[in-house]
Amino acid sequence: MPITDLTRCGAKKICLKRIGLLGCGAIGTEIALAIDSGKVDAKLTHVFDFSKDVSALLVSKLTNKPIVTENAGLLAASPVDLIIEAASQDAVRDNALSILQNRKDLMIMSVGALLDESIFDIIVEGCKDFNKRVFLPSGAIAGLDAIRAVQDELDSLVLVTTKNPKALKGAKFFETSQIDPDKIVAPTVIYEGTAQEAVKLFPSNINVAALLSLAGIGSTKTTVKIVADPKADKNIHEIEAKGKFGRFTIKVENVPSPSNPKTSRLATLSAVECLRKICGSRVQIGT
Ligand SMILES: NC(=O)c1ccc[n+]([C@@H]2O[C@H](COP(=O)([O-])OP(=O)(O)OC[C@H]3O[C@@H](n4cnc5c(N)ncnc54)[C@H](O)[C@@H]3O)[C@@H](O)[C@H]2O)c1
Repeated sequence: MPITDLTRCGAKKICLKRIGLLGCGAIGTEIALAIDSGKVDAKLTHVFDFSKDVSALLVSKLTNKPIVTENAGLLAASPVDLIIEAASQDAVRDNALSILQNRKDLMIMSVGALLDESIFDIIVEGCKDFNKRVFLPSGAIAGLDAIRAVQDELDSLVLVTTKNPKALKGAKFFETSQIDPDKIVAPTVIYEGTAQEAVKLFPSNINVAALLSLAGIGSTKTTVKIVADPKADKNIHEIEAKGKFGRFTIKVENVPSPSNPKTSRLATLSAVECLRKICGSRVQIGT
């Protein structure tokens, strides 16, 4: 079966990439809507979510209806070019290799999963063995290009993330901590440690720490501070990088996604832009 669709658009023939989506929540829905509305030269053909209600709701919002597969294995085997993971770290652990083995490229949003070295190695080997690519969009931060550029000269990399306690609720961290997110009344540093530990304790909140450490000096040398601020109406990430090259700081104040306050609007926009880069014009702006 041919993997790409040839679609007529005026006199021009456009070769549309076929996309599969794993996870139909806040990010998955926005990506699907962007494709459906023509913001990306691609066609969403297959989707899967653990929750049938969530996938059905997504399909109901789309003009071009994708097929809902019965399970993630069937999604991996479906005739698509690229699968976008927008589900969870477990989804990455359970499906990344099988997606690559099925000769599909993969975009990963739950980047925290990659700080587990065994998962990272499996994915790197999978890309080589099956000649496929894995894309990690910049997510809810800016400046990854600069961090990659200075990676060999970095002495320290610090991320301070401020979120409303509501956006942190449900994190594994609170299972063992004395801190009750409902009782925080003033800005409080609730966590300080390595990126490697942070993504385990806050798997749905701190993917940016994983992106930073993968681009920079590694997950054990990247420091993460998490501030819970009951007055915060934005997800704020402040990055400070220092080294032989000099110093730079980046601050991003993100509007949370209305359907999932843990997720920032920029994370979705960044995924859509990454997809546009993969599917669209050959002129690429920025490193
Ligand atoms: N890279 C970044 O900067 C960044 C930013 C925000 C969120 N994220 C991550 O992206 C992922 C999606 O975020 P979201 O806001 O859309 O979450 P969400 O909770 O709104 O949606 C996730 C959906 O995936 C489904 N799901 C979870 N595990 C699954 C599995 N193993 N198989 C199939 N379906 C599964 C859930 O049922 C849910 O519908 C999360 O892991 C989140 O931590 C990354």
